[in-house]
Amino acid sequence: MRKVLLVAVVLVCVFFACRKEETSHPELVLRYADNQGHGYPTVEAAKYMAELVKERTGGKIEIRVYPDSVLGSENSVMEQMVYGGIDMSRFSLGTLSQFFPELWTLQLPYLYTDSAHMWRVLDGEIGDMYLQGMSDKGLVGLAWYDAGARSFYTRMPISSVSSLRGLTIRVQENDMMSRTIELLGAKAVQIPYGDVYSALQKLRIDGAENNLPSYVFMDHNQAAPYFYQDEHFRLPEVVMISNDARKKVEAVDPAFVNLITECAKESGFYERKLWQEEEKRAYEEAVQSGVKFTIPGEDDMLALKKAMEPLYQELGPKEQDIVQRIGDT
Ligand code: GCU
Repeated sequence: MRKVLLVAVVLVCVFFACRKEETSHPELVLRYADNQGHGYPTVEAAKYMAELVKERTGGKIEIRVYPDSVLGSENSVMEQMVYGGIDMSRFSLGTLSQFFPELWTLQLPYLYTDSAHMWRVLDGEIGDMYLQGMSDKGLVGLAWYDAGARSFYTRMPISSVSSLRGLTIRVQENDMMSRTIELLGAKAVQIPYGDVYSALQKLRIDGAENNLPSYVFMDHNQAAPYFYQDEHFRLPEVVMISNDARKKVEAVDPAFVNLITECAKESGFYERKLWQEEEKRAYEEAVQSGVKFTIPGEDDMLALKKAMEPLYQELGPKEQDIVQRIGDT
């Protein structure tokens, strides 16, 4: 009797092992691009999302995360997503608003009073409206990731907004971003993220602007050790899926379409936590590496905001209404 029982137990174990083996071959593999590297909050959050999706689809859908721009720069990934070569990606709002001009409103300098204000907006109706609004170009926004606030950093000391005059500053490949920087009297040069370090080293540019984690992660602090912490932009990141990929997901199981959105949103909360830790760590690393931080005084902040006023004055009525709603949130 004991022998029979033992055989039965072994058979049951073999059966479950085989089933596990079966589900380890996904029915659908989605390729996900990110231009940041392993360890960066957006990449770690994407891996977390991939785990959730794998677990909750019983292994039927696998998201393969390709970091470090291995699938191309953000602009190239955007084109590949529109034409169906890449299924999912994480984009900076700065890249997206060049393709989706309506997003420009969310990129206005000094739009939010602080991070909590931005999250009230993005977690609410306005944030949802923008995530949904990109589907006419074949893409759907699933969730927001944090990317903190962007400030200037330069090879030479800058002590006030007037020190920016005449400097050549790298910006993302985004015309409105160029215009913003030019309103401060600086010359804007559009360069892909991965080429900024070499542009600083070869003295092609005097400085750039980005958040602290990117500044340190990409070693820009080694080449441009003066950080002028004016926090002019708060540009979140967007996790996106192509409409084509969504259809493929639907074909596996229609319920998985919402499931992927939920996992993306959950990974968004995880990323925000990682982001806060990474901001602190990056600050400490920057200080240790000898970076000189300048926090603009009240007068300087007023001068910065005044210089950027034309961007608000040029908005159409619809955009002005959104800015008003953001202010009231
Ligand atoms: C941030 C963002 C990147 C973007 C970069 C840039 O670091 O996370 O996706 O490419 O800004 O300034 O280009």
